[in-house]
Amino acid sequence: MEQEVSRSIFARVREVPADPIFGLNDLFRLDPRKDRINLTYGVCLEEDGSAPKIFTAVKKAEELLLKTEKTKTYLPILGDEEYIRQTGKFVLGPYWKEEIVVGAQTVGGTAALRILSDFLKNEISSEAALSNYTWPNHPQIFDRVGIKREAYPYWVDGKFDFDRFYRYLSKLSRKTIVQLQPTSHNPTGVDLTLEEWREVALLCDRNGLIPFFDSAYQGLGQGIEKDVAPIRLFLENGLECLIAHSYSKSMAVYAERVGALFVCMRDAKDRERISSNIASLIRTQYSNPPKHSASVAKLLLTHPDLNELWKKELEEMRLRIVTMRHTLAQKLGKRLHVDFSYIDKGCGLFSLLHLSKSQIIALREKHAVYITEQGRINLAALNPTNIEAVVDALCSVWQGSKAL
Ligand code: LMR
Repeated sequence: MEQEVSRSIFARVREVPADPIFGLNDLFRLDPRKDRINLTYGVCLEEDGSAPKIFTAVKKAEELLLKTEKTKTYLPILGDEEYIRQTGKFVLGPYWKEEIVVGAQTVGGTAALRILSDFLKNEISSEAALSNYTWPNHPQIFDRVGIKREAYPYWVDGKFDFDRFYRYLSKLSRKTIVQLQPTSHNPTGVDLTLEEWREVALLCDRNGLIPFFDSAYQGLGQGIEKDVAPIRLFLENGLECLIAHSYSKSMAVYAERVGALFVCMRDAKDRERISSNIASLIRTQYSNPPKHSASVAKLLLTHPDLNELWKKELEEMRLRIVTMRHTLAQKLGKRLHVDFSYIDKGCGLFSLLHLSKSQIIALREKHAVYITEQGRINLAALNPTNIEAVVDALCSVWQGSKAL
């Protein structure tokens, strides 16, 4: 019998798996259980588990904008120049030098990662190394862009082993892009010490590696300045590097999509050529960035009262995460007689739990506790009211699992 040939032009479209983080979040939203707990995606929830409130500093900035904003005309392709300058100072500190840095406002940190990856692939290199556990969107972006990737050992057998990590990096060929996170490593929560960063910087310099930082948690790890110290250390040592920056978490403006990219070079002669490439990539992807979020961020960075208020709100959020890390590590340790101090010592929103796939599914299906398939939990979604339920659920699936 003759087979019917579909006339649809979409008949052969391949399905792409759901996003490892947002896909789970969709499952969570559809779950009818009232007591379900979402520890999947990285948002800093309120003490009562509700969605993150808008910072008072952001609200006040918006009120000010409502009164003073005169136009919604296009921004330049690279974005609001003052926003870029202020973000440049915020991230790079004394190394923000307009003649040797190309900066652009981006649609969150993800667009910065994508634009920079496109730029690297088109002009510089198509090989990259990223940590064996990483934010799942990192490999997705490299794959989309066509950058070949390998994983360097970062988190092995429940710990970070610097020597192993360093040995691996030292064997990478010249011009390999090395993706790094300066603080609050997603998903492990384990960062390098400044001394270790220094060694990595010198290695990158010696071996001609290309440092590519994803900085998404400035202010939520150890504090605003400390969280970007690794980037500044690279620059202090004369390295060239690329940086993707996000304000999603630090200003709690997730849905507003406001970030930036920076390309830091040695030679000012390269600047115009780099800038022209970045502008062309932005123009052909989203033309130019949205204005509102950058205007808000600019006020938080420059208005003395709003700046002070924002930093206070940010620090309160950081301290809440620190408390939750401590409490979870203590409670789990006490119940399971396993050392969870790595959670306590960790930094930023996330930690990894060593759970099997079936344990992670049991957490979700039996206990309505959602964590990612890597075993990542978002500490910033824990609070005094849900922590007991989370500990109970973890203890119940933990029985028989390998101690860390
Ligand atoms: C996360 O890692 O959960 C967040 O950065 C949200 C996202 O975009 O995946």
